[in-house]
Amino acid sequence: MIKIYAPASIGNLGVGFDILGAAIYPIKKNMLGDVVSIKSSKKFKLTNLGVFSKDLPKSYKDNIAWKAWLIFLKKTKIKKNVHIILEKNLPISSGLGSSASSIVATLVALNIFFKKPLNKIQLIRLMGKIEENVSGGMHYDNVAPSYLGGVRLIIKKKKIISQKIPYFKNWFWVISWPGIKLSTLQSRAILPKIYSKNTCIKHSQYVSCFIHSSYTNQSSLASSSIKDILAEPFRKKLIKNFSKHKKNVKKIGSIAYGISGSGPTIFSICKNKKIAKKIKKYFLKNYVENKKGFAHICKIDPIGARKIGKKINEII
Ligand code: HSE
Repeated sequence: MIKIYAPASIGNLGVGFDILGAAIYPIKKNMLGDVVSIKSSKKFKLTNLGVFSKDLPKSYKDNIAWKAWLIFLKKTKIKKNVHIILEKNLPISSGLGSSASSIVATLVALNIFFKKPLNKIQLIRLMGKIEENVSGGMHYDNVAPSYLGGVRLIIKKKKIISQKIPYFKNWFWVISWPGIKLSTLQSRAILPKIYSKNTCIKHSQYVSCFIHSSYTNQSSLASSSIKDILAEPFRKKLIKNFSKHKKNVKKIGSIAYGISGSGPTIFSICKNKKIAKKIKKYFLKNYVENKKGFAHICKIDPIGARKIGKKINEII
């Protein structure tokens, strides 16, 4: 049996709409990512487990793991059946790369189970295709970091270029999901088709400044360039009290704040654990709406998808 964990991710990283993303793990080392196990089976079987499995589509044909299996069969021409066990640990439509995590875990597990018929680039392509089908737009800013780990810059030309960007090890990423859904399809649909020249220039200044400061280890310059002028102005109305929380976490000591992927998860970056704990407490009190919601203090996950044993930090 093969068992693969694929971490949650923060798409866009505030500044790089559709081109930057990061894999994350909670410092408490609790599970924040889906797990897929593959076993041989005479007939195809799909079992859904995990806290959020109740929110998965009723028909297995709408399940992402099934879609990933179909596309994998088509690409590899394999004619065997398997039993897929999906542990759905990430909330659906949360902005934490939940669909990406299921896609990555399923494809990586299948590929290892069948002795690696596909290479990295072929796998990323398939991951992007399924993500497009689910979210209504081709973007790799969740699948690439969840698969390969770290902070990733993803450029799609004829080939897909996925580069690891250096990151600040002392940053804490406090994320909070309020416990409600927001579909990526909906959050993408409200964005304008065309942006002004001024917006394009400012956006490229922020992205290039972030990449430059990440390479030259200038933490303050990097955090000050985490500004989202493409999506946030339109998406913030979908997020309760977005601007109020921005002001309040800044007062507590946050150095950057934004929407994780297409929301409703929000993130705040801070430089020490004491402030991170205060921000987590603030989110739990003021942003989380129900018992399902949560806040976690996270770090960048440098590994991405991996085999796991019984415990999450047991890397095989
Ligand atoms: N880049 C995507 C978006 C991420 O913002 O729509 C979706 O999680």
